[in-house]
Amino acid sequence: TKFKRLLIVSYRLPFAIMRTEEGLSIRQNSGGLVSAVLSMAERMGNSENLPFEKIHWIGHSDADFQDVPPALLENDNFVVHPVYLDPELNRGFYEGFCNDCIWPLFHYFTSYASFADTYYQDYEQANARFLEKVAALVEPGDLVWIHDYQLMLLPGLLRASVPHATIGYFFHIPFPNYDIFKLIPRAWRQALLEGILGADVVGFHTTDYVQHFQQSVSDVLSLPIINQRVVLPDRSVLVQDFPISVDFNKFSLAGQTAPVSELRKTYKRLLRRNRIIFSVDRLDYTKGIRERLLGYERFLIQHPEWHNRVTFVMTVVPSRDKITHYQELKREIEEAVGRINGLFGTIGWRPVVYSYLSLSFEELVALYTGCDVALITPIRDGMNLVAKEFVASRNDGKGVLILSEMAGAARELTEALIINPTDTQEVASAIQQALEMPAREQRERLEKMRTHLAVYDVFRWTYRFLSTLQDVAISEPALQ
Ligand code: UDP
Ligand code: G6P
Repeated sequence: TKFKRLLIVSYRLPFAIMRTEEGLSIRQNSGGLVSAVLSMAERMGNSENLPFEKIHWIGHSDADFQDVPPALLENDNFVVHPVYLDPELNRGFYEGFCNDCIWPLFHYFTSYASFADTYYQDYEQANARFLEKVAALVEPGDLVWIHDYQLMLLPGLLRASVPHATIGYFFHIPFPNYDIFKLIPRAWRQALLEGILGADVVGFHTTDYVQHFQQSVSDVLSLPIINQRVVLPDRSVLVQDFPISVDFNKFSLAGQTAPVSELRKTYKRLLRRNRIIFSVDRLDYTKGIRERLLGYERFLIQHPEWHNRVTFVMTVVPSRDKITHYQELKREIEEAVGRINGLFGTIGWRPVVYSYLSLSFEELVALYTGCDVALITPIRDGMNLVAKEFVASRNDGKGVLILSEMAGAARELTEALIINPTDTQEVASAIQQALEMPAREQRERLEKMRTHLAVYDVFRWTYRFLSTLQDVAISEPALQ
């Protein structure tokens, strides 16, 4: 192909570099974006469909390490290029505009969104800092793939500075309907849309998000949209859905490996061979963690016959803990866990085993494969990879997925027990139904979802996005 290098640009790098007493070390970052792009990077080197050299990954670094040894910034799969933002700027940009304005607003938590002028100024400035790094790296023949809501202005900035660049942009969170989007002050919302339209291809998880984006583009910018393309004076932008996914084979095989089997045995022993309900999410009010606990509490009230026989293992991964709404949520979760354990627990039985930490891959898969029920209840979620990872892990054909209809993943995982998380009774009933579901029904439901995910895995997502981007770039000679 004519494209040689792939430049990934996202706020998050796959690893955070930290200074400890022993020197510098790295730790994997959390979240769906890093999981998906990392899977792609691991596969890139040995795929015929994606014949790129090493990926160049441009992202934010917490610290201005002058002394980072190059070995920490490069492995077999990628080279990272850190963009340093000073703490003041990062606060207004990341904790402010990104996660105190756009994140709540785009997840329909409108009353959580704050529209401070300084937030937006910092957002502009941070996007400009990313531009400096990308513009210095990009060469003819590169594909630049920009990710997510932290960098909406970047495609436009890059287009202005390198007009012939080939730019893809993928949005990992919901794009809200126009009534929500128009809460953003006029000048900002126009700039955000124009920024995104700097790309050649813009991708979302679902057709709903595509339609919402198109409606905002036609209402705010009055641009025509023909055949999925936004028509600009000098070029057009393809807007399409590309549902993100997981490395199906990796999860499907991982359950049988020795370290995962060992961990699974240990967990089951520690939990006295009780039936296990499992959930894992980043600390986030969009994930419906409070609603989930209420559903479980109602289940315990209505089903004393399950007391002592079931344990809810609820893992919350630390996230954005400097932001007020996240701190409040953590307190509320811990109060609810305390209340439930106080109400129903005994010396020998803790109904909720809660932890606030990150899991290793082996621990995660041991829990996916060791549990009886995965309870996934977001109030709003762009996709939700946890649901797909659970299904991919269960090559034993056992286990039940309870999934919120508000997760993008519910569009594909239709054989899950689909619930509305605000309906406490529905959650409680689904838990009972899941715990009592015949083995054969479990297997049949999982089989259908696994057949889907085996085809629609993360490599399919990558391949579809990048080949669409290449085709568009080749067919629009003005861009070469
Ligand atoms: N995950 C993680 N750290 C953990 C446990 C899980 O990074 O300790 C991963 C999980 O495997 C999944 C991702 O975080 O790939 C969560 O993605 P999802 O789309 O469900 O939600 P997001 O956090 O992106 O909102
Ligand atoms: C979601 C967002 C990602 C983000 C991740 C983790 O998946 O779409 O852009 O990286 O959450 O959140 P964090 O704020 O820690 O990057």
